[in-house]
Amino acid sequence: MLGNFMYSNPTRLHFGDKALDGLAQELKNYGPTVMLTYGGGSIKKSGIYDSIVAILNAAGKKIVELPGVMSNPTSDKLIEGAKLARDNKVDLILAVGGGSVCDYSKAVSVSAYYDGDPWEKYFLKMEEPECKIIPVGCVLTMVGTGSEMNGGSVITNHAQKLKIGHVFGDNVFPKFSILNPTYTFSVPQYQMVAGFFDIMSHIMEQYFSGQDDNTSDYIAEGLMKSLITSSRIAVKNPRDYEARSNIMWTATWALNTLIGKAKTQDWMVHMIGQSVGAYTNATHGMTLSAVSLAYYRTIMNAGLKKFARFAVNVWGVNPEGRSDEELAKAGLSALESWMREIGVVMNLRELGVTEDMYEGIADGTFILEGGYKKLTREEVIAILKESM
Ligand code: NZQ
Ligand code: ZN
Repeated sequence: MLGNFMYSNPTRLHFGDKALDGLAQELKNYGPTVMLTYGGGSIKKSGIYDSIVAILNAAGKKIVELPGVMSNPTSDKLIEGAKLARDNKVDLILAVGGGSVCDYSKAVSVSAYYDGDPWEKYFLKMEEPECKIIPVGCVLTMVGTGSEMNGGSVITNHAQKLKIGHVFGDNVFPKFSILNPTYTFSVPQYQMVAGFFDIMSHIMEQYFSGQDDNTSDYIAEGLMKSLITSSRIAVKNPRDYEARSNIMWTATWALNTLIGKAKTQDWMVHMIGQSVGAYTNATHGMTLSAVSLAYYRTIMNAGLKKFARFAVNVWGVNPEGRSDEELAKAGLSALESWMREIGVVMNLRELGVTEDMYEGIADGTFILEGGYKKLTREEVIAILKESM
């Protein structure tokens, strides 16, 4: 394991089917006004909303509601939330929903007391917050992003056709997150499997880099194996608690900074996927599944040893009598079969991408250098074409 790093994670987790019992205790740490952020209404249908409001009322909190946080939250919605939080002198932002609501709440937390344009500061210029930051807590209802235990916040600006993630530091991580696997039972199948692929992608983005023997990679392999096993059970029976709880826990560890330690990290699938998202507003996980195979087949030869290891250690491909290249190809074929089995979107056309978008999507794709191969703009366009 080469390289130097610092590791800490400030988010306290409450996990299990009784996890919400931890909320009352957490609320004692904050002042009287709680901003309750949520999405389009799934939490009202499922009854989670009522349970949380009852706990807030019992704790004597004043509730400021901010509903309607959309999937792929926008910079316009961010302005609305920041104003509401500041006007009401909010003491805690309680995000109840999936990655979009958690991400959005973090963005609001650093924007409420910033006087300028938060989109420009945090997402275009990637500056760090200097103003007061409102603490955030999460009650997670949809699994995939890892937002419940990281500093990530992804915001979309439709006018500029850009979707950008800012990975904030410890001071913006949720102070606590409530993870109850039963809350994820009502997630529609399409969203559920998109989340599964998002988890896989987060792990692969961190796994496919570096040449050294690194403990992080062994942890990543274990997480991938757990996800593959449990996803196969969950697609057949979404109410299988054991599978859904394993997946929830895997998702958290897939992107809470642990498995990226001492690694340069790739993240090009996410860069392309986010730009696709800016053009189509498609579901995040599906933007990743649609471009992953073309991307990995493009870079495979540059990281051959790791792709061969992926085949053997993650997918159980028998290495006997096979070259690294044959193994690497077999590993990606196994990945493809699993993707088809769980039912993720396999091409960009299905997400609404058209040929006239190639140039724009490539323009909006940030080229990173942490993976096995630095892509050229032409290669990004070739990957998009290949993914149609
Ligand atoms: O809005 P509601 O009505 O709640 O419906 C949501 C939404 O339509 C629904 N849903 C959530 N929980 C449900 C449920 N429906 C029924 N029952 C439940 N229990 O699911 C839909 C999708 O929710 P969303 O939060 O948008 O999905 P996800 O968790 O995948 O979050 C996606 C966002 O996270 C960003 C993505 O780019 C995207 O903007 N990401 C954040 C990351 C991070 N913080 O580190 C990293 C990721 O790579 C990702 O980029
Ligand atoms: Zn993701």
